[in-house]
Amino acid sequence: MESHDFCGHIQFNDRECSLMLLDQRNLPLKEEFVTCTTIEQLVLALREMVVRGAPAIGVSAAYGCCLALREAGGEDGWQETLEHLLQKLEAARPTAVNLRWAVNHMRSVRRSNGDISWEQLKELWVQTARNMHRWDVKANRAMGEHGAALLEDGDVVMTHCNAGALATGGYGTALGVIRAAVAQGKRISVIANETRPLLQGARLTAYEMVQEGIPVHLACDNASSMLMSKGLVSKVIVGADRIAANGDVANKIGTSGLAILAGHYHVPLYVAAPCTTVDTSTPTGADIPIECRDGDEILHCLGTRAAPFGVEAYNFAFDITPWELIAAIITEQGVLRPPYRQAIAGLQSARFFEGSEN
Ligand code: MRU
Repeated sequence: MESHDFCGHIQFNDRECSLMLLDQRNLPLKEEFVTCTTIEQLVLALREMVVRGAPAIGVSAAYGCCLALREAGGEDGWQETLEHLLQKLEAARPTAVNLRWAVNHMRSVRRSNGDISWEQLKELWVQTARNMHRWDVKANRAMGEHGAALLEDGDVVMTHCNAGALATGGYGTALGVIRAAVAQGKRISVIANETRPLLQGARLTAYEMVQEGIPVHLACDNASSMLMSKGLVSKVIVGADRIAANGDVANKIGTSGLAILAGHYHVPLYVAAPCTTVDTSTPTGADIPIECRDGDEILHCLGTRAAPFGVEAYNFAFDITPWELIAAIITEQGVLRPPYRQAIAGLQSARFFEGSEN
């Protein structure tokens, strides 16, 4: 795997049954790993954003099921303990559907193998989690190929938050499309919105683009209207945490505002996401649970208090972009155009055992 795939940021050790996660809270200043061996540790790592981004959360959760199985032990009653741990794991973050999807997929693999022993399940789940991880990178590469066709030589692409290799199993969704277009020889430059409060754009997207040698400007979240009005943005590409059956998209807070601006200035806004981010059981964006995080993240900036005491803060981590504002949804199965309901219903589910072994 090429180094820019960043596949090494999520590493599972079979022998020790441990999960090593590159600590994204400290990037770009420090490259340190956090090791998880229990569900409690992994849930904390997910909540505190050691690992974040919907597909990366899903891949980590798949490995997390192996940690849960080890923790449940092979003694009588392990099945109940395991289910209890899986429920804790899937509740770690509410919006990114990839988390619930991954845990449910592991459950269904277990069910479809009948009355399987603890040892057999351990082997099967480790293999399944690895296949899910590989599948995610392959899906991102396919998405990149489909999406790159939408980009032209000379485009300036604005993106929000981090939908790159770090947010996935590797390669990235929105940033994967940019990578693929650059690999095709197109000259693309990027505007990374800094993405308050946790600065995923400044710390992670800019870091990935610099590592890749792709020209990048950093902009405040509130500069988008100005930049678009001056004709400095050709396209916007973002990722997704959940796509409802009608094509409404939950993504990092600020995405819907960006979509409204893009509509006003006639800049196409694209969403790039794999089918594991699509949730057809959620009819519309209004039904997607939005994570509300600790207000302290807003009241502080890079660890320093930025607002007077006595102030409270709104800290919704995501918002909903109505499908009408999205010019296309780029998936590993092709580019979907609005209206999305029928095209979304026609998406195939991920098959992790087909062609994902290598
Ligand atoms: O809170 P985060 O950092 O997990 O939010 C991440 C995003 O909003 C991403 O855009 C989304 O998960 C897609 S990542 C390919």
